[in-house]
Amino acid sequence: MCGIVGYIGNRHAYPILIEGLRRLEYRGYDSAGVALMSDSCHLNIYKSLGKVADLERVAEKQDVTGRMGIAHTRWATHGEPSTVNAHPHCSSDGNLALVHNGIIENYAALKEKLAAKGYTFKSSTDTEVLVQLISYIQNQGNLDLLTAVQLALREVVGAYAIAVIDRRCPDEIIAARKSSPLVVGIGKDEFFLASDATPMVAYTNKAVYLEDGEIAVLHAGMPLRIVNLNNVECSHEVQIIAMNIGQLEKNGFPHFMLKEIYDQPGCISDCMGGRVNPDAGTVTLSAVSNFKERLAGAHRFIIVGCGTSWHAGLIGKQLIESFCRVPVEVEYASEFRYRNPVISSDDVVIAISQSGETADTLAAVELAKEKGAFIYGICNVVGSSIARATDTGSYIHVGPEIGVASTKAFTGQVMVLALLALLLGKEKGIVSEEEYHQTVAGLVEIPGKMREVLKQDSLIADFSKMFTYARNFIYLGRGYAFPVALEGALKLKEISYIHAEGYPAAEMKHGPIALVDAEMPVVVIAAQSALYDKVLSNIQEIKARKGRVIAVVTRGDTEIKKLADYCIELPDTLECLLPLVASIPLQLLAYHIAVYRGMDVDQPRNLAKSVTVE
Ligand code: F6R
Repeated sequence: MCGIVGYIGNRHAYPILIEGLRRLEYRGYDSAGVALMSDSCHLNIYKSLGKVADLERVAEKQDVTGRMGIAHTRWATHGEPSTVNAHPHCSSDGNLALVHNGIIENYAALKEKLAAKGYTFKSSTDTEVLVQLISYIQNQGNLDLLTAVQLALREVVGAYAIAVIDRRCPDEIIAARKSSPLVVGIGKDEFFLASDATPMVAYTNKAVYLEDGEIAVLHAGMPLRIVNLNNVECSHEVQIIAMNIGQLEKNGFPHFMLKEIYDQPGCISDCMGGRVNPDAGTVTLSAVSNFKERLAGAHRFIIVGCGTSWHAGLIGKQLIESFCRVPVEVEYASEFRYRNPVISSDDVVIAISQSGETADTLAAVELAKEKGAFIYGICNVVGSSIARATDTGSYIHVGPEIGVASTKAFTGQVMVLALLALLLGKEKGIVSEEEYHQTVAGLVEIPGKMREVLKQDSLIADFSKMFTYARNFIYLGRGYAFPVALEGALKLKEISYIHAEGYPAAEMKHGPIALVDAEMPVVVIAAQSALYDKVLSNIQEIKARKGRVIAVVTRGDTEIKKLADYCIELPDTLECLLPLVASIPLQLLAYHIAVYRGMDVDQPRNLAKSVTVE
């Protein structure tokens, strides 16, 4: 939700800021802006409604000189998307410019207080209130920028990652964080600042991830200084960014989403790398080795997440219950955090989050921690807030996911859950040697099977055309295929804007079947499983009502092929690993339908990849 970039050093700031915004556009793309301290010491601010490309058009003929600046790409919270509401926001005296990611919850009270002192506001944002507050405090006490920021932030309730510059101090950026991510990149006599590390990887691999309550003072040519709101110096650790620029490019694909769908065989191999030993037929996870007793001794697991990560959690429940025979609950993090859940110190809470920044999931982690549970994180973004807030965890290691619709992170999450469940089941003596080795062998084959599924891309693209103008879709599956159906429906909704619902196939009769007519496409995940015959009956019921069936079947299937309008074949896979291959054709189906409809696949309307506000 909103992306922040900053630069101070000897290079031209503008191209770095624009390129950085492009990298962060997945975090929000309804408006963008940049503030530059020009070579002639003017504070130039350019803003635009729309995307970073629109901002570039606005700035095209303007003075974009300067070696220091801050920039922002916005996902609106307070105030509609518009140029006036776009960041950076300026103090009335024109001295300060500020960019912000988060929500100032007490902004109305602060605004009232400032209005009473004669301050006026151009925008309807909480951010403008913050910059005016800093300016007011600074002018009142004739203070330096750092002190004014520290005093202002003490009055603020809410979440923020901010960067502020002062026209009168052209060699300083002040940046602060509470509950929204902020990374400082360290170059030679220069600093980069961003909501995640992607804008800086082209320039440096050294980064410091700010902690809540910390303020970074960035002076080109001077060492990084980090203090807290009370001006106490904070120690910091420089981390190496393990990411390369190639991972941030489309590499010839028309969209990041398609690239990321195709990345999955490689990503899943990376995820298993060092964990699955195909020769020995064994699995290790360092988190399990380090906390064996705590994890294997859990009385209950509670999985928390949102959206796609929650769907992965539903698969995790089936995996853990089946391999470990321990009860598992799966909760939307947003509900869990507010309903005073019963949690004991024998519980293990598994927090799943691609970004590692989702506000609700982070709050759920904090709550569970307070109540004494042990917390296991499954994140993609290394060093993210959730990864750092957990007791232990496993990264999914699928590389940066840039398309807003999650694809490779989902299969990465499922893979880590499968490894965790299998390992704990073995540890507890519930999984037999035979089942263990058989499952490991099944895991090792997954990347190859994913490649086989991807070969059907052009077939899927072909029949996707038929559904360009569909208004509704139903997705059905049972057992491990039910969360796959939910995830397939979510993918279609978010990128094509076609209404879609996922159901357990047997639930059809209890209501949704009333929707089925000749206009209704029904996607059924009907791979070979213990419930195959029952799903076959469901398909017959849909066909009897003239619904159009797209079936995902196991290769060699003959029964369903006779009934379905379109079939996608999966290689035979262990039932518990089915989601890893069955989700891919549904990602492709959603992708192609959205492309035929002319939608912005990588940046669908109203969405942002990292939901750092409630
Ligand atoms: C869907 C999607 C979202 C995210 C959700 C949680 O394609 O991307 O539903 O899964 O916002 O995000 P993370 O996993 O970053 O916590």
